[in-house]
Amino acid sequence: MTPIVDPSKARGLILGIESSCDETAAAVVAHGHETLSSVVASQFATHAPYGGVVPELASREHLRNIVPVVRGALLRAGVGLQHLDAIAVTEGPGLAGALLVGITYAKTLAWALQKPLIAVNHLEGHIHAVLLEHASRPQAALPAIALVVSGGHTHLYLAHTSPRGGWHYSVVGRTVDDAAGEAFDKVAKLLGLGYPGGPWIDALAAHGDPGAVPFRFAEVRPRIGHQRPSAAPIASPELLFSFSGIKTAVLRYVENHHMAASIAERAAALAQLPSPSAHQARELCDQPTLDLIASFQRAVVDNLITRTLLAAERYGAQTVLVSGGVAANRELRQRFQQKAGPLRIPVLFPSLSLSTDNAAMIAAAAWPRLQSGQLATQTLVAQPRLQLGLAADATIE
Ligand code: KG4
Ligand code: ZN
Repeated sequence: MTPIVDPSKARGLILGIESSCDETAAAVVAHGHETLSSVVASQFATHAPYGGVVPELASREHLRNIVPVVRGALLRAGVGLQHLDAIAVTEGPGLAGALLVGITYAKTLAWALQKPLIAVNHLEGHIHAVLLEHASRPQAALPAIALVVSGGHTHLYLAHTSPRGGWHYSVVGRTVDDAAGEAFDKVAKLLGLGYPGGPWIDALAAHGDPGAVPFRFAEVRPRIGHQRPSAAPIASPELLFSFSGIKTAVLRYVENHHMAASIAERAAALAQLPSPSAHQARELCDQPTLDLIASFQRAVVDNLITRTLLAAERYGAQTVLVSGGVAANRELRQRFQQKAGPLRIPVLFPSLSLSTDNAAMIAAAAWPRLQSGQLATQTLVAQPRLQLGLAADATIE
């Protein structure tokens, strides 16, 4: 049975739960923008020895963490379960077993407390991580172009509020192969650095010459047969991303410059350190390696910025919202502001802790749904391949 909520009586306290990948998170957010608590239990240490997320281990860690993480979020917010107006949970996309832990817990809590249950798309959550901290901005700043750039996604959405309540998204660009975060992770692994790779590349790139290796992105012209049947078709190729080529280019550079031995040495030395610092990693990199890292990062960052600003101009966006784990990247933040300045388009990022996976963004995205009565039922199941929005030319409301 789904409990009936009267939004006018709701005090707006939502418990958000997120378990789509390798972070177990819970948060309490009031009225969609006031974060009372946000607790994240990261599984980096569990997955680091494998150089990537191991799905079975992720599910097991979520099972271990979910109860203390939710309790911690309630405790820090100073609220009891009875004070909550709704429970929100990530329904997808993500790892099936990982999602299932959060969903089962949220459903049980909602049923036992007879509170509304709200299903949230993880990607919409990332967009609301930015809105959460810029809630005072007037609605006139819409439509927005939202770049969601993480380990699993690199998508451009045209976002605006829907006349029927809530938000509406159209996909205007996306990657045809790897996500940008995946490229960071794979290149870091290739160079003998730790997992996840983004923060390592970010820290080390500052010590290299970004112009040393001229990586180039060719215009992406995917053949229809190369597109996943489930993926929304995109009208313009200039708004498509492709990151598998640069990963191969780095691999070729490493081979041509005989870097294999020094990479193996670095990987072995880092493996000996219990929790290596960026400074220690830098000591283990020679200048050509630092230059390679800086050049790789510059190429990816500039590619993300160019396509996003092109989309913003094309769709008359009033704001650019950048979110997802890669939004934590310092060079991306700096260069976005530099390049968007002359166009007079504000570029908004979440704070660093809300860039990577968290549950405050899930609770924030759930608020408009609670207000417009878009509730989930006890039949809610994990949607590992859930998408957000339809192709731009297919969705005008
Ligand atoms: O959003 P997120 O926490 O999880 C997913 O939904 O994927 O994003 C994780 C991704 C990883 O690929 C990680 O390497 C990347 O975000 N990342 C970064 C930085 N911090 C995390 N990439 C570049 N620079 C960073 N500072
Ligand atoms: Zn994410």
